Amino acid sequence: MMNHKVDTSPITGQKPGTSGLRKKTSVFMQEHYLENFVQAIWNGTGGAAGKTYVLGGDGRFFNDKAAQVVLRMAAASRAQRVIVGQNALLSTPAASNLIRKRGTDGGIILSASHNPGGPDEDFGIKFNAANGGPAPEDITTRIYSETQTISGYHILNTPDVDLTTPGIFQLGDMTIEVVDPVSAYGEMMEGLFDFDAIRALFASGFTMRFDAMHAVTGPYAKAILEKQLGAPAGTVINATPSPDFAGGHPDPNPIWAKTLMDEMMGLDAPDFGAASDGDGDRNMIVGRQCYVTPSDSLAVLAANARLVPAYADGLRGVARSMPTSAAVDRVAQHLNINSFETPTGWKYFGNLLDDGRATLCGEESAGTGSDHVREKDGLWAVLFWLNILAKIRKPVADVMSGHWTQFGRNYYSRHDYEAVDTVAAEALMSGLRIQLPDLAGKKMAELTITTADEFAYNDPVDGTRTEGQGLRFGFDNGARLVLRLSGTGTEGATLRVYLEQLETASNRLHHDPQIALAAVIAAAEALAGIRHRTGRDRPDVIT
Ligand code: G1P
Ligand code: ZN
Repeated sequence: MMNHKVDTSPITGQKPGTSGLRKKTSVFMQEHYLENFVQAIWNGTGGAAGKTYVLGGDGRFFNDKAAQVVLRMAAASRAQRVIVGQNALLSTPAASNLIRKRGTDGGIILSASHNPGGPDEDFGIKFNAANGGPAPEDITTRIYSETQTISGYHILNTPDVDLTTPGIFQLGDMTIEVVDPVSAYGEMMEGLFDFDAIRALFASGFTMRFDAMHAVTGPYAKAILEKQLGAPAGTVINATPSPDFAGGHPDPNPIWAKTLMDEMMGLDAPDFGAASDGDGDRNMIVGRQCYVTPSDSLAVLAANARLVPAYADGLRGVARSMPTSAAVDRVAQHLNINSFETPTGWKYFGNLLDDGRATLCGEESAGTGSDHVREKDGLWAVLFWLNILAKIRKPVADVMSGHWTQFGRNYYSRHDYEAVDTVAAEALMSGLRIQLPDLAGKKMAELTITTADEFAYNDPVDGTRTEGQGLRFGFDNGARLVLRLSGTGTEGATLRVYLEQLETASNRLHHDPQIALAAVIAAAEALAGIRHRTGRDRPDVIT
């Protein structure tokens, strides 16, 4: 068994973004690219010697080969043990759970989340810390600086390890424990939710469609929904993970999960529909003829949390990313608990969860989760909804109407302009940034700006300050506009425009969001000149 030291030199651009390092698969497959980054993870976290890690991924193209590289490099750097999902598969929340449950030093997740997969699409790698959550910024900064000075990496020169069967194996001096990816996760879910009530719901004829989008949650959803909870076979569709997600875009929103949306809007729609993304941390919730925005979903979960055994004693607090709508804040106010506003990205929830300040967290980008793990969790959100519906036995549409009547409706939409010219996108942002101090009082289309600033976050637990987290504008009619550039794209820049307006009048709670938001959409265009600057006449994706 040869432990090789391979000479290498820094490769530019290995700076982790909102969620780990994401690049085109072909970039990751370049010589030394993955190896440099993995060595930088070890170097940036005090070395791998004696450490225990969790390893798994979403099954996309190159997942299997990358996992073998990570194993050979962990063994060469004298890690003690790696717990790896069978066939190198683990959903992101399942990996987070294993890190916590097994008390490991961290974990490596191979995923580009909801981005398409395949030789011409995207790949990604992310390091999670011992709390099970995405590495906080000080760690990602250290990893990045290691990538800039790296001169060599260690790797064993051995054949691939067989990961097809659970069991204990040796690679050099390192132990490899291949585990069933689903079982520990399924047990955790059973401990959180009222499975008997959900079983009774399905037994009563309640129908559901879960679209796994050819991604990693297929096996989890089949095992939990169909086997443990008795949903009829066929409830879970597109359940076999595929290296290129069958050519699709594994992002659970009305655009990419259109087949499910069409079924749910039809006359014979099931009672409940849901979908999850590439690595199983996102969720989409849809009732019969009733799409639930992620911001609203978070608010409904918070308002009904006491129906779930794990949260029966109430929530300690809630947290949402800044661009997420304030719907959950209104519930928090009613419950008399804190609502925290954090920068975009799950890593910012970690301290609030670890410190017991927040129990539920969510983002407008289809991410919802709680203190049960340190990642957002797609299937958990679906089970939370099922638990609520099992207890109150009302259609989703009635749940939403009731919620809006009680709390008001935060009309919400996000407009994305994808693969925009980077220079143009940055010019748009910096042009607005300079004007921020002078914008209050200015009229934009029909609305007048009342506040304009750039979001910065002071972490209340460790005092870390994070700046440059999105431009925020308030208007005289109560509407809010946020603009930021995506930190997960792999091509050009993605401009995200977040639009929100609260409505409390009972006769105006059921409008089309794009119409309810028309005034702020026009104000955004007047303010930022998006069409002119991006050369686009409409957003690529509206959610
Ligand atoms: C996007 C979402 C963000 C989420 C992240 C990882 O990041 O907007 O909420 O945490 O993906 O799933 P962005 O591309 O906006 O930086
Ligand atoms: Zn994801």
